[in-house]
Amino acid sequence: MNIKLLSLGLFLFAIFLVGSEAPFVKMTNAKCLSYNKSWVQFHYCRLKAYSRNKTSLNVNATFLEPANNIHLRLKLMKRANGYKPFLWDYEFDACEFMRKRNQPVVKMVWNLIKDVSTVNHTCPYVGLQTVSDFHRIEVPLPMPSGEYLLLLNWTFDGKPQFATNVYFNFLEDVWVKSRT
Ligand SMILES: *[C@@H]1O[C@H](CO)[C@@H](O)[C@H](O)[C@H]1NC(C)=O
Ligand SMILES: *[C@@H]1O[C@H](CO)[C@@H](O)[C@H](O)[C@H]1NC(C)=O
Ligand SMILES: *[C@@H]1O[C@H](CO)[C@@H](O)[C@H](O)[C@H]1NC(C)=O
Ligand SMILES: *[C@@H]1O[C@H](CO)[C@@H](O)[C@H](O)[C@H]1NC(C)=O
Ligand SMILES: *[C@@H]1O[C@H](CO)[C@@H](O)[C@H](O)[C@H]1NC(C)=O
Repeated sequence: MNIKLLSLGLFLFAIFLVGSEAPFVKMTNAKCLSYNKSWVQFHYCRLKAYSRNKTSLNVNATFLEPANNIHLRLKLMKRANGYKPFLWDYEFDACEFMRKRNQPVVKMVWNLIKDVSTVNHTCPYVGLQTVSDFHRIEVPLPMPSGEYLLLLNWTFDGKPQFATNVYFNFLEDVWVKSRT
């Protein structure tokens, strides 16, 4: 399978994702950081705990100016004496994806998140952006058990504007069992 497609699938699976009904993945922390508060301001960036195995992600941010040119860089890290790069480091044009939506893997994951966020439209993005209480997850990819960190760096007009970083735990055993 195309590695880029896989990357994108994983990213979308993890990004907003990041709520989890399934026991094999659990978000453990979320951090949002604006590099340019005259463009992006975060009001809220937090996990809500439902049970020991289930959390949901809630983000509320304002884009003070319209963003027409958005790129997203995602980098997956796995914990082993600190977080080390693991498999994915990929950048793509988010506006183009929202326009075309012609990649099956991405579209499948997109279908999970479109109802819980305000990002269900094409560029430009301006004003309040939210991801509310996301906790549906159906597209895990095989990965070793462990603690992960997904770094999401968002660039407007070629300049880094903000990061949304999500920490999560993955349990391979449970994944295997639930699939067989
Ligand atoms: C910060 O945001 C403003 C828009 O509010 C923009 O004009 C400026 O270029 C941005 N600065 C950087 C370094 O991205
Ligand atoms: C987003 O956060 C702002 C500031 O805390 C708040 O006024 C607003 O009601 C929130 N909106 C949503 C949809 O959560
Ligand atoms: C939570 O996950 C653990 C480990 O995977 C499992 O043993 C336990 O049954 C789960 N609890 C619930 C309420 O799903
Ligand atoms: C937004 O989501 C709704 C419901 O899922 C869908 O019908 C609509 O086509 C979507 N809008 C865009 C611009 O993708
Ligand atoms: C994200 O952007 C910031 C600011 O440019 C940079 O310091 C950081 O290294 C970037 N992280 C990744 C994973 O690209």
